[in-house]
Amino acid sequence: MVEIVLNGIDEDALAALARGIAPRVRGGGSIHLAGPLGAGKTTFARALLRALGAGERIKSPTYTLIETYALPGLTVQHLDLYRIAAAEELEWLGLRDLADGPVLWLIEWPERGMGAIPAPDLTIRLAHADSGRDVHLHAHGENAAGWLKALHIESDVNSGQQLSGDS
Ligand SMILES: Nc1ncnc2c1ncn2[C@@H]1O[C@H](COP(=O)(O)OP(=O)(O)O)[C@@H](O)[C@H]1O
Ligand SMILES: [Mg+2]
Repeated sequence: MVEIVLNGIDEDALAALARGIAPRVRGGGSIHLAGPLGAGKTTFARALLRALGAGERIKSPTYTLIETYALPGLTVQHLDLYRIAAAEELEWLGLRDLADGPVLWLIEWPERGMGAIPAPDLTIRLAHADSGRDVHLHAHGENAAGWLKALHIESDVNSGQQLSGDS
């Protein structure tokens, strides 16, 4: 099991984290984005989608529940389950048969869909900190452990933790 904790990172550092992860997830996988309203789940998903080539205008799936991005060689399914009261409400979506080929799942409020959504390779838990956000990355298996090991995280006492991808 691999875990990384970043404390008090700003929005740029969160976006850099997403850019660092992007090259690792082109083969697909499941990322659960947990944390309260305004914690930065959509901010992270947007930065990741941009880095994957989805363009600049990326809608939040808050109202639509799901936004699909058919990228070359990868389908990304970005879900926001905030409005779901019970996981059974998701059954009509037939989530498992949506696409052929590699699929990357980015799921906000995953706890509301447990059992009806792909289990996470990586859980990213975001929380408000005194300054910026605390970010906890938890890899659930070898695959995602590899994604995290490939990240380069440099600690800087003055500016908090900074992160750079090696893409
Ligand atoms: N360090 C940070 N990381 C992420 N978002 C931040 C940060 N600092 C400020 N913000 C702001 O907080 C808000 C996060 O909103 P959003 O990503 O939509 O949250 P969520 O999807 O978790 O509800 C955005 O307005 C963003 O600009
Ligand atoms: Mg959101």
